[in-house]
Amino acid sequence: MVEFQGQRLRDASHVVVFTGAGVSAESGIPTFRDALTGLWERFDPAVLATADAFRKDPALVWGWYEWRRSKVLAAKPNSAHLAIAELARLVTRLTVITQNVDDLHERAGCHGVIHLHGSLHSPRCFACARPFEGATDQLNDHEDGRRIEPPRCRHCNGKVRPGVVWFGESLPEHAWREALAAVRDCDLLLSVGTSGLVQPAAEIPRIAREHGAVVVHVNLQRESVHGEREFSLIGKAAEILPRLLTQANK
Ligand code: APR
Repeated sequence: MVEFQGQRLRDASHVVVFTGAGVSAESGIPTFRDALTGLWERFDPAVLATADAFRKDPALVWGWYEWRRSKVLAAKPNSAHLAIAELARLVTRLTVITQNVDDLHERAGCHGVIHLHGSLHSPRCFACARPFEGATDQLNDHEDGRRIEPPRCRHCNGKVRPGVVWFGESLPEHAWREALAAVRDCDLLLSVGTSGLVQPAAEIPRIAREHGAVVVHVNLQRESVHGEREFSLIGKAAEILPRLLTQANK
């Protein structure tokens, strides 16, 4: 079994890095489905991350997202985020597509990040959908599970919701279109720290492979691979990405 070598990143004309919660795990941000530390432990996102839950109990849902936002504000980009930003400066063309709603790729120095599931930093009115520019609740003493009344929209007085894609909602049309164009064009795709369970984002590695790209999975566990042009690198993103960067720099 040939191991993937980072030098191949240098030869690629367009690299796509597709990330999930696993790339932010070593920044201390819980993933969704890791049994011990996952966000599912305390609350079930499949229940809370829905418009219905927000209608029924806006303070609980807003409070849960404010808790998640407080963890993001307290976190720092880890060496996986930093290695991806460095790679973007090294290879001919690199596009980052993320399922994460944190801004750690941007804080590591990446530009033009495509957020398929929105962002914790773009709240908007639940009623009129206008972006909410006001200041939100002080987060310093926020703990998991505290209810917080969401702020109100200046234009229509509707409740403000998190700017993330909830279960049952469609992805931002522009982001999905932009992501598909990059995935179909790339000749190498790194899929980093995703369980591949949530559609349609989970289709991305298959679409890349079907368009002739080399696909490299980086995950704690082995990923099933198809043929000679797909690889599964097992380990922590914060260790593997810097190693790939070192190899690409050779
Ligand atoms: N390095 C690499 N991979 C890791 C690490 C790490 N340090 N820690 C965890 N992982 C892997 C896990 O093995 C798992 O496969 O990251 C993946 C995290 O999976 P999920 O928690 O399901 O997160 P994600 O794939 O991003 O979920 C997709 O589901 O809940 C929705 O909208 C939410 O965007 C999210 C989507």
